[in-house]
Amino acid sequence: MLTFNSPEKLQKWALARRAEGKRIGLVPTMGYLHEGHLSLIRKARKHADLVVVSVFVNPIQFGPNEDYAKYPRDEKADLAKCEAEGAAAVFLPTPATMYASDASTRIRETVLADRLCGLRRPGHFEGVCTVVAKLFNLAQPTVAVFGQKDFQQAAVIKRMVRDLNFPVKILVAPIVREKDGLAKSSRNTYLSTEERRNALGLSRALALAKQLVAKGETSAKRIGAKMRSELERNGLVVDYVELLDAATLDPVAKVVKGNVALIAAFDGKTRLIDNTLL
Ligand code: PAJ
Repeated sequence: MLTFNSPEKLQKWALARRAEGKRIGLVPTMGYLHEGHLSLIRKARKHADLVVVSVFVNPIQFGPNEDYAKYPRDEKADLAKCEAEGAAAVFLPTPATMYASDASTRIRETVLADRLCGLRRPGHFEGVCTVVAKLFNLAQPTVAVFGQKDFQQAAVIKRMVRDLNFPVKILVAPIVREKDGLAKSSRNTYLSTEERRNALGLSRALALAKQLVAKGETSAKRIGAKMRSELERNGLVVDYVELLDAATLDPVAKVVKGNVALIAAFDGKTRLIDNTLL
């Protein structure tokens, strides 16, 4: 397995592989890899000859009061996991090599990125779009795999790819969960024992939404209210509960098959997100 720290070297390698006719699959991550990330690598391998995993805690997608400095990192373990999953290369740049000190170009998706997490985390999706566009230019992927765990992120990236004609196919992989239902996340390591227990409120609220829909309930207002009570019952502080059209991310009044339920909630100081298609 190759490792690249230099953006230029990765790009040179990727262009040479593309010239040989190889299909490159890209899996962008911020590292501290878990089963969720590894499932993306496996999916990428099915659609590409060579898989590149990027591991980069992207400073420009974190707000000033967010967890950039304490975001968990474990480069050695990440490399071993990528190697075991058959990645062809891992890209581990530094902020200084990714962003010139006078870098002044950003990519902003202006509709889907301005709601949900985008409202609570101003500039977040601009940071995500900018780094992902750079990664596309560096790794030259024919496919890139994202997780449904970050539903809004995947929607924003798909829109960016469509709007700017990136020659890459975006694949979205299902959410990988712990046995008890908690969606795997690098941020779960922040949780105390009690918070870890309360965190189940998210998957419980989503299961409740599914049950209600299965029983014929269609009112987004009533479903949303019951989800909120379930989150609160588990000691969580609701940031948002939304029932949306999965493609446009517009709120729905009447829930139909294929809509998505999304949650963001604070578990102590940690903000957790989860979602499910209904
Ligand atoms: P990160 O949070 O490390 O996630 C990397 C990818 O793994 C994302 O596409 C995310 O949706 C996916 N993922 C995380 N947890 C998952 C789970 N439990 N099941 C399935 N997939 C999961 O998302 C980012 O990094 C960054 O914003 C990034 C796209 C790398 C840009 O910096």
